[in-house]
Amino acid sequence: MAEITTVVAPVNIAVIKYWGKRDEELILPLNDSVSATLDTGVMCAKTSVCASPNFSENEIWLNGQKESFINTRLQNCLKEIKSRAASEKSVDDIFLTWKVHICSENNFPTAAGLASSAAGYACLVSALAKLYKVKSNVSSIARLGSGSACRSVFGGFVRWHAGVKPDGTDSIATQIVDSSHWPEMRALILVVGDTKKKVSSTKGMKISVETSDLLKYRVEHCVPKRTEEICKAIKERNFEKFAEITMKESNQFHAICLDSYPPFVYTKENSYKIIELIHGYNQASGAVKVAYTFDAGPNACLYLLEKDVPEVLSLIKHIFPSSTPDKYVTGLSVNSASVNPELLRGLSIQPQESDLIKYVIYTKVGEGPTEVTDGSHLLNELGLPITRS
Ligand code: DP6
Repeated sequence: MAEITTVVAPVNIAVIKYWGKRDEELILPLNDSVSATLDTGVMCAKTSVCASPNFSENEIWLNGQKESFINTRLQNCLKEIKSRAASEKSVDDIFLTWKVHICSENNFPTAAGLASSAAGYACLVSALAKLYKVKSNVSSIARLGSGSACRSVFGGFVRWHAGVKPDGTDSIATQIVDSSHWPEMRALILVVGDTKKKVSSTKGMKISVETSDLLKYRVEHCVPKRTEEICKAIKERNFEKFAEITMKESNQFHAICLDSYPPFVYTKENSYKIIELIHGYNQASGAVKVAYTFDAGPNACLYLLEKDVPEVLSLIKHIFPSSTPDKYVTGLSVNSASVNPELLRGLSIQPQESDLIKYVIYTKVGEGPTEVTDGSHLLNELGLPITRS
């Protein structure tokens, strides 16, 4: 009798940052933002949703823990999907009255600035949309879970249009180009810390909106121009322009965190060593080959082209050595290269003590959410989590 659906959904890492809301309840942003969606084959959220007339209440399990369903964002997502299903008449009215069980897992650290809420809510909303056979674009519903989640419902490069309407109906994500447009684009996630952040994005951006003059200036004068320029750079596959805007955006976002009152800092000392290394490398190479960007956490996301990955990875291994070199790089496979001694001589940064970077995830631009059809659900027929050893 129970109906079950399972979906995997991607992480996205912004190159034009969403930071600040014009409406807290509807999660409407002050500015447009742009991101790349990363391959679910490497990093993903996986969510099973199950509806049954036998369930007495809605229940949710996240990363192996039972959580409370009394969560406004979660309830708003479920309510909106059901109301879409009702207006699209996609399922029987009786089916909409059945309670749901939800089980979700991320295969990467939660709440460490690795866009886990984006993947999680995009996955939840896409799974519910499949369960209730909703056909229309669900990015505005994913937005109600976490703003950045609205970008994870598409693959490739994605733009979230801030919109101007008070009801938020024009605050939706659209795809700039699909994942095949720039096939050489790669990302290296340098995991510096995977502990939970002290100031959540939601809280941090509220403080910034209330207190930072720099944020007002940024929204009005910097983001509109940068958004147009980076969309053009993406369409033209102009890496140098893409990289320059990405790094300036990241730096401005973290400057706003410091300009907020009281200030908060997401980066760590090691984050600045990574920044120094990338600028040093670009300068020594005589070309902008790598861009860094940091979200609300200390981990770096480097964007670069496939041809430069072996050299950049060998450089990272040299400057940030690991005590467990065999486990240092995960994700896509890569051929090793040796570090060019001449390049090293041109750098100001020296090799650091071991394990400042815990591990590196090597990935690429990928597709949006996809249904899992091999039957590997996270819930059994009774709607209870399947425990894996
Ligand atoms: C720094 O989407 O997590 O990653 O809408 O309050 O849930 P809420 O915030 P969230 O903020 C993400 C902020 C960011 C930048 C970005 O992804 O654009």
